[in-house]
Amino acid sequence: MIIQATDFDLRSRNTFGLPCIAAQWVEYSSRDDIPAVAAMLDGDMPRLLLGGGSNILFTTPVFPGTVVHSNILTIDAEVLDGGRVRVTAGSGITMDRLVERTCTAGLWGMENLSLIPGEVGASAVQNVGAYGCEAADLIETVEAFDTVAHRFVTFSAEECCFAYRHSFFKTPEARGRYIIAAVSFILSSKPAPRLDYGNLSAAFAAGRDITPMAVREVVTETRNSKLPDPSVAGSAGSYFTNPQVQPAVFEAVKAKAVAMFGPDVKVPHFIQPDGRVKIPAAWLIDRSGLKGATEGGAGLWPTQPLVIANLSGDCTAADVIALENRVVATVESTFGVHLVPEVEKAPLLS
Ligand code: EPU
Repeated sequence: MIIQATDFDLRSRNTFGLPCIAAQWVEYSSRDDIPAVAAMLDGDMPRLLLGGGSNILFTTPVFPGTVVHSNILTIDAEVLDGGRVRVTAGSGITMDRLVERTCTAGLWGMENLSLIPGEVGASAVQNVGAYGCEAADLIETVEAFDTVAHRFVTFSAEECCFAYRHSFFKTPEARGRYIIAAVSFILSSKPAPRLDYGNLSAAFAAGRDITPMAVREVVTETRNSKLPDPSVAGSAGSYFTNPQVQPAVFEAVKAKAVAMFGPDVKVPHFIQPDGRVKIPAAWLIDRSGLKGATEGGAGLWPTQPLVIANLSGDCTAADVIALENRVVATVESTFGVHLVPEVEKAPLLS
């Protein structure tokens, strides 16, 4: 079924809770609807393929084009050899709902992704990740409709070109072109816990049984303790990606940190397989003196300054962008590192 509406209110469709009206809204609930949806898209009109709205900042009161949303909610499972299970999920399912279902079924793989906001289709576009696990670790294929060639295409994980919070679907040539129908994940019925991130292993030190559901509970508690409760303050999760810098830049950051905080300061960092060094943006923001910074109704979340939150409940996109600009400029002048937002803007600012 296809649902169409004009002047559609997007306030409840973005986790910042910003007001925005879509000139046109199109929602599809089955794979077979997608060719007809694609035919409705006018090549010259702006289009936005929206998931759960958890990574988007609406920059204008009206989105002057078509917003397309999936409501495909199917979940299929197929037992493969060696304890592997292929779970194919419709693009419109809430990611956390899928994680809950797979953990309830005792399947390993998705438990560290608990409580990640957003929907399955966007999890592939964005390569969501948390606690040492990324969607890319689990994705086998992504099925999408190509609105240029007018046919369904199945992308292998390799063709998706996954990287940290990035995929082929975010590149200029692919953006807005592929309407995702379903994503297949390979999970495991054999125990495969990944507890090496942060305090996860500590939670299991006292002999507690390690099951997918138990890991899900620990991850959920950890996220709830750091990130804003959506019923208290809207946000889009991490506003910035963690920068990955060349070793020489990392050495310069360390030298600046020592000059500012003394010789005992430790700059948290993670060496990447390509030799670059990932530095937590939250640390750079914190140590640039920005904790608690606000602009209008928008502010950095007290326990996780990587998150810009709608503190007043009625902040504007201009407030968020003013805070973004201040964070980027201050971290750059303090540490010489340029932070890049993870959150996308719609429409894009010129
Ligand atoms: N830190 C500070 N001051 C603070 C808070 C944190 O200095 O007030 C530093 C600490 O050194 C801490 C470090 O920041 O160790 C990293 O913080 P954390 O492990 O909480 O996570 P993150 O790197 O900030 C990433 C993801 C999150 C994901 C967590 C947990 C990105 C952009 N963010 O955040 O994903 O939940 O790891 O795995 O990669 C999201 O993408 O929306 C998201 C929430």
